[in-house]
Amino acid sequence: MTRTAILGLGHYVPSKVVTNDDLAKLFDTSDEWIQQRTGIKERRYIEDSGTGPSDLAVPAVKMACENAGIDVSEVDAIIFATLSPDHDFPGSGCFLGDKLGLAGVPALDVRNQCSGFLYGLQVADAWIRCRMYKRVALVGGEVHSTGLDFSDEGRDVTVLFGDGAACAILGPSDDDDRGVIDVEVHADGSGAKELWIEGPTSANVPRITHEMIDDKTVFPAMNGRHVFRWATTKMPEVSQSVLERNGVSVEDLDLVVPHQANKRINELVTKKLGVAPEKVVHNIQKYGNTTAASIPLALSEAVQEGRAKKGDLILMPAFGSGFTWGAALVRL
Ligand SMILES: CC(C)(COP(=O)(O)OP(=O)(O)OC[C@H]1O[C@@H](n2cnc3c(N)ncnc32)[C@H](O)[C@@H]1OP(=O)(O)O)[C@@H](O)C(=O)NCCC(=O)NCCS
Repeated sequence: MTRTAILGLGHYVPSKVVTNDDLAKLFDTSDEWIQQRTGIKERRYIEDSGTGPSDLAVPAVKMACENAGIDVSEVDAIIFATLSPDHDFPGSGCFLGDKLGLAGVPALDVRNQCSGFLYGLQVADAWIRCRMYKRVALVGGEVHSTGLDFSDEGRDVTVLFGDGAACAILGPSDDDDRGVIDVEVHADGSGAKELWIEGPTSANVPRITHEMIDDKTVFPAMNGRHVFRWATTKMPEVSQSVLERNGVSVEDLDLVVPHQANKRINELVTKKLGVAPEKVVHNIQKYGNTTAASIPLALSEAVQEGRAKKGDLILMPAFGSGFTWGAALVRL
């Protein structure tokens, strides 16, 4: 049976560093509060107007192609996971394809928030295994900084998020021992309004009103404690399910690359699973939560730093808005 391998990884973050102290100048927060509760020290924001997630994705895809040893023109399908698309429509994948000169190459947007990379991985894996495509660019990209509430009211959400993009080039593996072993994903919309943006909404007549801006329903809203509880329950549960189904024990894992939402969440999740702390990758301190980009960004950095190597068995769990959650098991 054909297996799907991660042939190459790439990432890109904008150069503007925003520290916790920078945010403390804008609203009532502190470096101590943010670090203690989340592990975040700084995040990246786009420099200028006019830079969307598809722009951040261009260098990430180029780096991933280079690492995969392919030319960008060989990409035969794009999957773009994002919760902050360049525009409501068309999808960011279409913008990205155009920027990469990939006219005619199919582009699918995935709107599954922090679990978007895992949903995209499951789709790409199915495409490749049934020989539909050979070189899929699976991208996670976000520009959060233009949509956050920089006032005391929005501080709980605003301190968490950062901008960035990452890409995995996926293709059929000629090595039976290497590749995507399993991806399990879930959703439960009963939690949809615990982490969401209420407006603008196509259900409203008219879709956008001045009141939405005045009432701040155009900014993300979150029930932080509720999300924390769900994340620390569902991420271990789905990880356990994937490990058991594949006869893999926690000791067999070389690395865990979780979605980077909160360092405390990931410490608790991996403690529940019994994973040794040194096997867990954290980069939230540098980038905050980059949502769909966070897993491939952390994995790409881990490869670049020599921490993740070919042949390593890697578990990647995620939880996010939707609620959506999942876990992937991959042999790099
Ligand atoms: C957001 C989160 C860090 C808040 O931590 P917490 O310990 O639950 O804190 P609470 O929300 O109970 O707030 C505690 C206090 O800090 C205050 N606070 C909230 N954000 C703050 C900030 N950025 N700076 C300073 N104080 C803040 C609150 O107003 C509250 O004050 P009060 O006690 O006077 O009412 C935490 O709930 C969390 O990480 N949840 C999951 C979020 C997440 O992962 N989202 C993305 C999922 S993909």
